[in-house]
Amino acid sequence: MLRLLRPLLLLLLLLPPGSPEPPGLAQLSPGAPPQAPDLLYADGLRAYAAGAWAPAVALLREALRSQAALGRARLDCGASCAAEPGAALPAVLLGAPEPDSGPEPTQGSWEQQLLRAALRRADCLTQCAARRLGPGGAARLRVVRALRDAFRRREPYNYLQRAYYQLKKLDLAAAAAHTFFVANPMHLQMREDMAKYRRMSGVQPQSFRDLETPPHWAVYDTSLELLGRQEAGLALPRLEEALQGSLAQMESCRADCEGPEEQQGAEEEEEDGAGSQGGLYEAIAGHWVRVLQCRQRCVEETATRPGRSFPVPDFLPSQLRRLHEAHAQVGNLSQAIENVLSVLLFYPEDEAAKGALNQYQAQLGEPRPGLGPREDIQRFILRSLGEKRQLYYAMEHLGTSFKDPDPWTPEALIPEALREKLREDQEKRPWDHEPPKPKPLTYWKDVLLLEGVTLTQDSRQLNGSERAVLDGLLTPAECGVLLQLSKDAAGAGARSGYRGRRSPHTPHERFEGLTVLKAAQLARSGTVGSQGAKLLLEVSERVRTLTQAYFSPERPLHLSFTHLVCRSAIEGEQEQRMDLSHPVHADNCVLDPDTGECWREPPAYTYRDYSGLLYLNDDFQGGDLFFTEPNALTVTARVRPRCGRLVAFSSGGENPHGVWAVTRGRRCALALWHTWAPEHREQEWLEAKELLQESEEEEEEEEEEEMPSKDPSPEPPSRRHQGVRDKAGKPPRAREEL
Ligand SMILES: *[C@@H]1O[C@H](CO)[C@@H](O)[C@H](O)[C@H]1NC(C)=O
Ligand SMILES: *[C@@H]1O[C@H](CO)[C@@H](O)[C@H](O)[C@H]1NC(C)=O
Repeated sequence: MLRLLRPLLLLLLLLPPGSPEPPGLAQLSPGAPPQAPDLLYADGLRAYAAGAWAPAVALLREALRSQAALGRARLDCGASCAAEPGAALPAVLLGAPEPDSGPEPTQGSWEQQLLRAALRRADCLTQCAARRLGPGGAARLRVVRALRDAFRRREPYNYLQRAYYQLKKLDLAAAAAHTFFVANPMHLQMREDMAKYRRMSGVQPQSFRDLETPPHWAVYDTSLELLGRQEAGLALPRLEEALQGSLAQMESCRADCEGPEEQQGAEEEEEDGAGSQGGLYEAIAGHWVRVLQCRQRCVEETATRPGRSFPVPDFLPSQLRRLHEAHAQVGNLSQAIENVLSVLLFYPEDEAAKGALNQYQAQLGEPRPGLGPREDIQRFILRSLGEKRQLYYAMEHLGTSFKDPDPWTPEALIPEALREKLREDQEKRPWDHEPPKPKPLTYWKDVLLLEGVTLTQDSRQLNGSERAVLDGLLTPAECGVLLQLSKDAAGAGARSGYRGRRSPHTPHERFEGLTVLKAAQLARSGTVGSQGAKLLLEVSERVRTLTQAYFSPERPLHLSFTHLVCRSAIEGEQEQRMDLSHPVHADNCVLDPDTGECWREPPAYTYRDYSGLLYLNDDFQGGDLFFTEPNALTVTARVRPRCGRLVAFSSGGENPHGVWAVTRGRRCALALWHTWAPEHREQEWLEAKELLQESEEEEEEEEEEEMPSKDPSPEPPSRRHQGVRDKAGKPPRAREEL
């Protein structure tokens, strides 16, 4: 029946060509029970290989939808069946007294009850799945592990982006590409494609959206951003939403654990001790332990951003900490107390939390009886502890394995015999410690989210700490636009940021500085093109994002000053020149080369935390950047400028740096300083942005629709797929993973 239906479906899909695509992944055939994801996916790939782009898109989207429906059905059915009286576990097994129980169950009868309850629950689940997913229920939609992994890696989006591209749906193509790239930031081909998409005139920045990431990550980031700006009141609803979202994702992850058992390799089963050799109870125990292990892993899965390798450390407790602090800031003490009590459920000995609790209680005055930890957190912890207890039991007695994802598990819960071994393992957990320096590859994965950017040298290669050279931040064309901007501004006699001084650092060079606000003003008055001024703003934000991702992923950085600086050698004044273009200095402290100390006090800009230099050209002589020892003499590393190269480093005494003399030509760079302190964010940046937006609106009113494409025939993202099909007619792999 299905076999007949599918070609029909294909035909139907082929019929309406230019039908408008709904945004995102809306349902293809509302109301109809989903088909099996693996069959849809296979059909989608076949259509893709045949170059039938529209059906390929429809089938791939349907495969994604069906996969999602399967997960949702499992979650909902699991919840509703657990609540059904006949299918619930007998209370005696849960250690709770039965509410209106008659005589105590006799020895042995619990066994009957347990198994009967299991049968009833299975019946309930089967029926529920059939109702939700059509005849055959979950069994019909069963997906093999390899495919589940492919979906987890978001492979369908790789095909989708290409198919959308062929259909000239650039917005959706960019969204699909972005969605794939978020989960695969090391995918070089996609990085290049993303860069191409960005250059296409039909693609808007907002096209690069993630079609899959659970929304709580976005809310979480917004709340951090707001907290960074001291906006506790605005942050609070988002903090709460992020926490709820995390808990919800935890539930659906846990529900997935109750899906069909993973087909494990024979070795793994051996290792787990409860292999298939056992009888009924061994088999039940074996399966149960695997479900528990899977559920516990959900803590990490929930705390790990798509495409990242490590979870955010201590995700839930840290969210609760932010919540109680924010509530206290806005003066909601009862909420602050509930949240800090919840932190104490995880860490009963946490001094900071205990102190905060005392303080809140004192502020509140008379004790409030009703105040306790949050119920959702209480439930979460009780359930988790129950599972851990069983897992440790199985570990000790059945030889199964268990990697506890939580640092807060009370030691008393762990069997004596296991503690020593676990302590050793615990020391190996990467996220309990500061990320090692130099940062491991996985860490800067996130940085690559800015496609086309490569890490050229890390701290180790630069012989220091907290230094990096990244390439590919600007295209040659972008460098050209910014160079032109600085030239036009200088030509108009505009100089800003140096208080009018022409040669602030050396008499042998002429300096031209341009701030973002000045650039915007010049653009507004028509002295320079607005394209350059806009790019200046955009690029500075690009650098900020990257610097934050690389050095400060958990704490927002703000731009505190942005300065486009060109230095030109003054002809005839270069003979026997001994001085530097820029003497050795540190950015946020006053360096004392004699003692090697660096005083973080005025006149230094003490609030600068990270510095960035983005180079625009290399057609000049001299002008390399160099780092020194704190004695300001011994050079430890040097970097040659070139278009699109960013040198980023922490602004303290660990990074004294200077610039060799520029002896011929003109060297241009964008200097950027970042700060953790929101009160030092660059106000001029916002002013410049507003100014440019105003003039843009005016322009739009004048021009109306007259927007010839700058890029009439964009290169397709990749020609690799065309005609690729092996002889057996199997669909090609989407991309070689590099
Ligand atoms: C504290 O927050 C809770 C929940 O957001 C709210 O219901 C309550 O009115 C707040 N209390 C105060 C004193 O603001
Ligand atoms: C780091 O030090 C080594 C040895 O002194 C040197 O060869 C290398 O060039 C330095 N790295 C940079 C980027 O200058």
